[in-house]
Amino acid sequence: MIVYLNGKYLPDDQALISVLDRGFIFGDGVYEVIPVYWGKAFRLDQHLARLNDSLRGIRMANPLSTVEWTQVIQKLLEFNTTTDSMSVYLQVTRGPARRDHAIPATTRPTTFVMVNPIPAPDAEVIKQGISAVTLDDIRWKLCNIKATTLLASVLLKDDAMKQGAYDAILVREGRITEGTASNVFVITGGTVRTPPKATDLLPGITRDVVIELAQRDGITCVERNITPVEMETADEIWLTSSTREILPVTKLNNKVVGFGAPGPMWRRITSLYQKFKKDLRDPS
Ligand SMILES: Cc1ncc(COP(=O)(O)O)c(C=O)c1O
Repeated sequence: MIVYLNGKYLPDDQALISVLDRGFIFGDGVYEVIPVYWGKAFRLDQHLARLNDSLRGIRMANPLSTVEWTQVIQKLLEFNTTTDSMSVYLQVTRGPARRDHAIPATTRPTTFVMVNPIPAPDAEVIKQGISAVTLDDIRWKLCNIKATTLLASVLLKDDAMKQGAYDAILVREGRITEGTASNVFVITGGTVRTPPKATDLLPGITRDVVIELAQRDGITCVERNITPVEMETADEIWLTSSTREILPVTKLNNKVVGFGAPGPMWRRITSLYQKFKKDLRDPS
């Protein structure tokens, strides 16, 4: 695999960073994951805008312009594309410096990009849905920043899997926030609901697309706080993210959600989502 590191295109095993990199020492960096369908980066402007927000959130300048990011992504796709659905992972850290919590006056950021195939969705997941458990959201208070510091999410995912679930839906102060790497939608009586954007969740790009598509199709879609009890009695629950798109949750805390199978609203929104992707490939 050819990757991009600090201005160079290299085989991944030759792309090396300093052990003093603040990304390695402190998790002092941010990242993005951008899906690419049929060679076109999906919602690239929105992903790069969120990258800017994340960098601003950790008090860093963006090392590349939008044009430069676009060129790097395009070049890596030329080197590495193996399938119709690829994902771009990009990461910016504050770079190498003597270990000290204080942000150095001058830094040389580390800029890294790689592209990978997006695995095809698991047929069983599409047929049966996934299981989730609710867990206390032990993460920090700036979850709107897409920070590489993901240890809490790693532990939460592990806790969920140890309970036999696919993922966790996180609860903070009596409200659900999001999944460990996804946003949450709760569907009751034909209304689609998701928690509003705030500092306790990532403003997901897929989340925005889902809201847009639902509203355009005449589905009532509301951004408001949701309690765990409201979620337990929902007809459907979905988890959304760039690489997994819209996953139906059919079991929550070992209890069946709705009828225990991916629901009609999930089928409707998934078909709108797939059509939206295809329309971008073949604009009429
Ligand atoms: C914590 C968290 N929330 C939400 C999302 C979904 O964001 P997006 O739809 O932009 O992929 C992600 C994606 O990785 C995430 O890590």
